[in-house]
Amino acid sequence: MTKVISIIDSKKHVGEKVKIGAWVANKSGKGKILFLQFRDGTAFFQGVVVKNEVGEEMFQTAKSLTQETSVWVTGVIREDTRSKFGYEIGIEAIEVVGTSAEYPITPKEHGTDFLMDHRHLWLRSRKQHAVMQVRNEIIRATYEFYNKEGFVKMDSPILTGTAAEGTTDLFETDYFGRPAYLAQTGQLYAEAGAMAFGKVFTFGPTFRAEKSKTRRHLTEFWMIEPEMAFTTHEESLVVQERYVAFLVQSVLDNCDYALDVLERDKELLKSYTQLPFPRISYDDAIELLQKNGFDDIVWGDDFGSPHETFIANSFSKPVFILNYPKAIKAFYMKPHPTRDDVVICADLIAPEGYGEIIGGSERATDVEYLEEKIKEEGLNQEDYEWYLDLRRYGSVPHSGFGLGLERMVTWISGNEHIREAIPFPRMLHRIFP
Ligand code: 4AD
Ligand code: MG
Repeated sequence: MTKVISIIDSKKHVGEKVKIGAWVANKSGKGKILFLQFRDGTAFFQGVVVKNEVGEEMFQTAKSLTQETSVWVTGVIREDTRSKFGYEIGIEAIEVVGTSAEYPITPKEHGTDFLMDHRHLWLRSRKQHAVMQVRNEIIRATYEFYNKEGFVKMDSPILTGTAAEGTTDLFETDYFGRPAYLAQTGQLYAEAGAMAFGKVFTFGPTFRAEKSKTRRHLTEFWMIEPEMAFTTHEESLVVQERYVAFLVQSVLDNCDYALDVLERDKELLKSYTQLPFPRISYDDAIELLQKNGFDDIVWGDDFGSPHETFIANSFSKPVFILNYPKAIKAFYMKPHPTRDDVVICADLIAPEGYGEIIGGSERATDVEYLEEKIKEEGLNQEDYEWYLDLRRYGSVPHSGFGLGLERMVTWISGNEHIREAIPFPRMLHRIFP
């Protein structure tokens, strides 16, 4: 019996005869030699069919294979110094498993709408495959990082009765006669978890009914939200930068081939692992913008993406912007001890114009302050009593943050648009496929 292997393991089988279940990604060559590009889900590589070696009938079978036909291919693995992957298969036999009708995504260029309409097939292509490998590595490394650091993974509910990140972009649904919302964040539950387990992290889908069409926003995205008891915001910032540097290093260590496919500058990525990350206050960021021709922005405004990009470009690594105005941040953030107008928080802005990847803060612990904020936001205090209980029963200083998975994937992959960072993106005008 010939051994069945995956393409990614080719290097362990040089000189051996093996069998691989794969799809035909492309085909070229003429005369008596044929080159078939294969993909098997783990990687892409080339197969070579020589007429004189396989005989007329097998050669004709190979020649007739259409794009995306699934096959069992048998042959000998050998080194291929001309390809980035470094290995190929000298084909001895091909057995068709499933034929493929005329495949819509040909090797030529296609428009974005067309590709998005065919997302279920587009995922098979080389670049999308590479992006998903980066995504997978970031997820894997996240668990590694927090497990090593003694955090407990805690699942927060998707259906909730509370709004935590403002009421403007809530997805509301009927919950047996009362309104419920798709979670905008797991944070409030993570805070309960931190009081039960000390250090927790949630990781799950979060939802925002964002009505804007930007290259940074999804309506459904995945967020990693660590929350730590007995932890100041200062200490949380150190966890944040260590976590981000760990993710970048993990992708460099384990996604070398994917980064090649994505043509990502590895030296540049490596430079982002040097800690600490620079910091700038919100006040100074506003001044920096005003001094550089952004006449439209005044203290109190939130940053738009051109602002974030300008600030990011003023540094060579991700940069923390600290202490935003109270009025533009969430109700649960701790007010500054000596200033009435700002809260103890930070956003981490990625380099190269990729925007905010982390939002975090120390959490308010004063029950009366929180009650007031809840009222101010027009929220129903009754729905937040359970949250206020966390302050009534052994409250401690605590801090946490949320990293947007797709923002991180987009940045590390060097992609133009966030839609390619998730298998099936949900956006303003897209719910299919
Ligand atoms: O800044 P945000 O809204 O913070 C929170 O939700 C807090 N509860 C986090 C916490 O302290 N536990 O969102 C956090 C991150 C952003 O920095 C961004 O990376 C990502 O989530 N994000 C989005 N990603 C894609 N599409 C959207 N519409 C996003 N909104 C936020
Ligand atoms: Mg934010």
